[in-house]
This record gives sequence, C-alpha cells and structure tokens, in this order.
Amino acid sequence: MWDPGQYRRFAGERSRPFFELLARVGATAPGFVADLGCGPGDLTAALAGRWPGADVVGVDSSAEMIRSAQAMLSAGGPASRCSRLRFVQADLRAWRPGKPAGVIVANAVLQWVPEHLAVVASWPGMLASGGWLAFQVPGNFDQPSHRILRDLTASPRWRPLLRDVQLNRQAGQPADYLAALAGAGCEVDAWETTYLHVLQGTDPVLEWYKGTGLRPVLAALEPAAARDFLAEVRRPGARGLPGGAVRHGAAVPAGVRRRIAPLTPALAGYRSLSLNFLVTSAEIRGFGSSWDSPFQAMLTR
Ligand SMILES: C[S@@+](CC[C@H](N)C(=O)[O-])C[C@H]1O[C@@H](n2cnc3c(N)ncnc32)[C@H](O)[C@@H]1O
Repeated sequence: MWDPGQYRRFAGERSRPFFELLARVGATAPGFVADLGCGPGDLTAALAGRWPGADVVGVDSSAEMIRSAQAMLSAGGPASRCSRLRFVQADLRAWRPGKPAGVIVANAVLQWVPEHLAVVASWPGMLASGGWLAFQVPGNFDQPSHRILRDLTASPRWRPLLRDVQLNRQAGQPADYLAALAGAGCEVDAWETTYLHVLQGTDPVLEWYKGTGLRPVLAALEPAAARDFLAEVRRPGARGLPGGAVRHGAAVPAGVRRRIAPLTPALAGYRSLSLNFLVTSAEIRGFGSSWDSPFQAMLTR
C-alpha cells in the first residue's frame, strides 16, 4: 500500500531526476504520452502541461495513488485544466498503449517490478516513429540505507516476520539495461547522476525512506513491531541510519557546509543515485560521458 501524502514529502528532491531526464526528450508534438508508474500524478500533469496537444495517460497499479491522482484532476488546480489527461489503475507489465506512443516515461518505478528487464525491452516496440522512451531507476542499492534494510530483514529477529516482503531493487548493473535495450535494436543514451539532497525537518532521512524503500516492511508489520523496526533502523552505529545517511555534511560539499551549517546544525542529507536511460526511435544517440572508463571502453569497442 502506498501513501501519496508521505510520498509527496520531499517532492522537489524526488522529482529532480524526472525533470532532468525529460529535459533531454526532444519530442515536440507527440500525439500520445504515457507515464508508467505515475504515482500521485503530479509529474504526469507536468507532461500534460508540456505537451498540451497530447493525450496523456498516467498508469499505476496502486489504488491509493490513482485515487490521489484523480482527486488532483478534480481539485481545480492546473491539472484540472488538462482535458486530455487521465489516470488508469493497471500493472505496467500488462499495460499496452492501444496506439503507438510518442513518449513513454517511467520514473522511479522499475525498482518495484521484479524481472523488469524484459518489460523494458518491450517498450521501444510501443513507440511511434520518432517516439521517445525515457526511464530512470534509482541506483542506491549498495548505499547504506539499503544495506541496513537488507541486513535487518535478514536478521534472526526480523526474518520470520519479513521473509515474504519484496524489497525494491535494480534488475542489474547499468550495462544490463543497455544490453536489454540493445537486444531490442535500440541505441541508448545512458548516464548516472548523484544527488546530494540536503533535507529539512525532523528525522528527514527516515521520513524520506518511509515514503519508499521502508514502505513494504512497515506495511507487513503490526504497529508496535513497526515502531521497533524503525528504532533499529535509526540506532546509531554500524547499522543505524546516521552511518548511511549524511549527517552534518558527510557528503555535502565543504563550501556548502561552511555556508549553511551554522544556521542548520542538524543538517541531514540523502545521497541518491539515479540511472537514466533515453531511447528514441528516430535517431542514434550518443553515450553519456559519466561511465567509468572500462565500461565505456566496453561499449565503444
Ligand atoms: C516511487 S513511486 C514513483 C512515482 C512517480 N513516477 C514519480 O516519479 O514520482 C513508484 C510508483 O510505482 C508504482 N508501481 C509499482 N509497481 C508497479 C507496477 N507493476 N505497475 C504499475 N505501477 C507500479 C507504485 O504504485 C508507485 O506509485
């Protein structure tokens, strides 16, 4: 179960990869745009704003998210004026566009879809001529926040209660995504981005994480057990979040820390890694330049 309210906290930070990815999509007047795993729909509405002549559909498997997106349509805000924007509840693995799509977007969703490389490889075949596919997968899975979760769920105390819980995950290394798309005959523009989000509020890293990665664990536990689990996640030390999260500038550039630390002594941040992939059916794209050199050498051989 998703909580659109919790997810919308930190919406500015969470949406950065989406906007930076979409900035590279060159479609000018697509007829049909699909946002797969659209969540509460705010970013789907941004797509409708960018391409007002397009039919735009947001697709999500969560009833709560789709309800929240539909409520936004009738709330009288800018999204209410997008007459060609709609939302449907569906599993993206079964979703078919009905007509060729000018743009397919999937931001921060695939990590929740097991075995998703085959799904990714099926999307280019759904594009119209000159269409664009843009998707983003978090690349945080070897970061401390995810390690804590994996360690705890596998520990003797929690394994019996959480053995059936599906944690989010990548399907593989970036090269595996490229291989899946290359196998579908695509040229790919791929790059990695690291964001150092400085977060505000009480326990912001935990609050961030409660909206996404911790969600299935907390949903599987009784309230008292969930409180105990959170206490273990927060416990300082080898497994506690402060070791994994950025406390007091561990990953904040020194210049920034000097400027703002006196004002915000409890500065906390979250390092998020984003793997970005762009395919267009019209033209051959170059490779991004942020890969490490052995990998780049492999690609360009
Ligand atoms: C982290 S949110 C991302 C929402 C939005 N794309 C964004 O960037 O803000 C992930 C969303 O993917 C949805 N999702 C997970 N598995 C899905 C599936 N198999 N089919 C469709 N949606 C799915 C969830 O319900 C959730 O709303």
